[in-house]
Amino acid sequence: MTSMLRDIGALHRRHVLTPWSVQATIDMPSIERGEGSYLYDVDGKRYLDLSAGLVAVNLGHAHPTVTRAIADQAARLCYASPQFFNATRARYAERLSSHAPWKEGARAFFTTGGGEANEDAVKMSRTITGRHKVLAAYRSFHGSAPGAGTLTGENRRWPNEPGIPGIVHFFAPNIYNSPFDTRDPKTEIERAIAHLELVLTYENPKSIAAILIEPVVGTNGAIPLPVEYLQRVREICTEHEIVLIFDEVMCGFGRTGAAFAAVRFGIEPDMITFAKASTSAYVPLGGVLVRETLAQFFDTRPLPCGHTYSGHPLAIAAANAALDAYESEHLFERAREIEEWIREDLAAVAARAPVIGDARGVGAFWAVELVKDRETREPVVPWQGPNPGPIGTILAKLRERGVYAFGRYNVILITPPLTISREELREGVNALGDVLEEFSCA
Ligand SMILES: Cc1ncc(COP(=O)(O)O)c(C=O)c1O
Repeated sequence: MTSMLRDIGALHRRHVLTPWSVQATIDMPSIERGEGSYLYDVDGKRYLDLSAGLVAVNLGHAHPTVTRAIADQAARLCYASPQFFNATRARYAERLSSHAPWKEGARAFFTTGGGEANEDAVKMSRTITGRHKVLAAYRSFHGSAPGAGTLTGENRRWPNEPGIPGIVHFFAPNIYNSPFDTRDPKTEIERAIAHLELVLTYENPKSIAAILIEPVVGTNGAIPLPVEYLQRVREICTEHEIVLIFDEVMCGFGRTGAAFAAVRFGIEPDMITFAKASTSAYVPLGGVLVRETLAQFFDTRPLPCGHTYSGHPLAIAAANAALDAYESEHLFERAREIEEWIREDLAAVAARAPVIGDARGVGAFWAVELVKDRETREPVVPWQGPNPGPIGTILAKLRERGVYAFGRYNVILITPPLTISREELREGVNALGDVLEEFSCA
């Protein structure tokens, strides 16, 4: 490590609190710039961004269409109160609506991030239904602050507890790691639905405003939920007049091979929350897409949500330009091609790294799950345990080889920019294979 890197590291540790980390133990490169699929540190070392940051930089780094739009907008108008009309904001919302799954259309409420979007979706659902409870899945992440943090279904919720009232968790299906004691996909779905129905019965369906769910579970393992399951959840919500909210903060904007997972899976929720890749993460932006029939509720009653930065001009300019790039380069569709590349590359890697128990995904949203034994599927470290296991060492070794990826416990995410080339992807997955092969033999 150069002395420059050491100095930055010391300064950082002295003055910056880094998310989710034990501060004294963090040792990361200092990133100076990004271009395409690569990040570059202060020493000029390059890292292939195999996780697209935090599953967000879907256009790769420094896409000129977006950077130019941000610069142009900055010179024209950086801020006006969100109650003022703004042409780019109105047009962008119209374009978003055209990508949404509803024939009737949708309206957008803008936030600065995904957690805030989930909290606003919950608040709107409570206002519309006059009910207070919200069901969310275990093994989910919906944000960090106390509201979204309470909706979260894993140990990052715990520091928020007791949290906001009225949140109840349930288990969604997980074919590889069943909470319902089966390895049969059909049985898993049936049991997951029976369980959800039981939870509803005991909670009183008439008190439930919303069910919030990630159609593809994100940081809890890149687990695409079975379409049949999501269809049944849709039917249950319709039957009990419960608002169905898809958290598409991670899986929106092409990650699954369509604008939204709802479109890829052919399911109509009532609201979709989004953030991250809406601007390819260049400027913070999130929001809630509300189907038109529900949005009309607020034509005659005040919308109970608002933020200083709602529909911020810089963020909207970035989002509008990002959508230009997604559309003109056909990147939502390209994610389906990437799906085939990742499937092929991971199959090759799994053949030489027995530590890989499962490789699963949809579109450009994949993960490998690391196990001690493929037969028993025992994880290399228990999910949600107090010990993070070897993941930190594995990811550090990967960075030494010039590849960045992120993961938790026994799962590593492979979620590259949708602009990645075939060769770059192979380079990244091969490096992962080398590290995991070495780990398998150790
Ligand atoms: C599915 C999902 N929902 C919500 C969030 C929270 O988004 P933000 O960090 O923008 O608040 C995340 C962040 O990773 C996420 O993956």
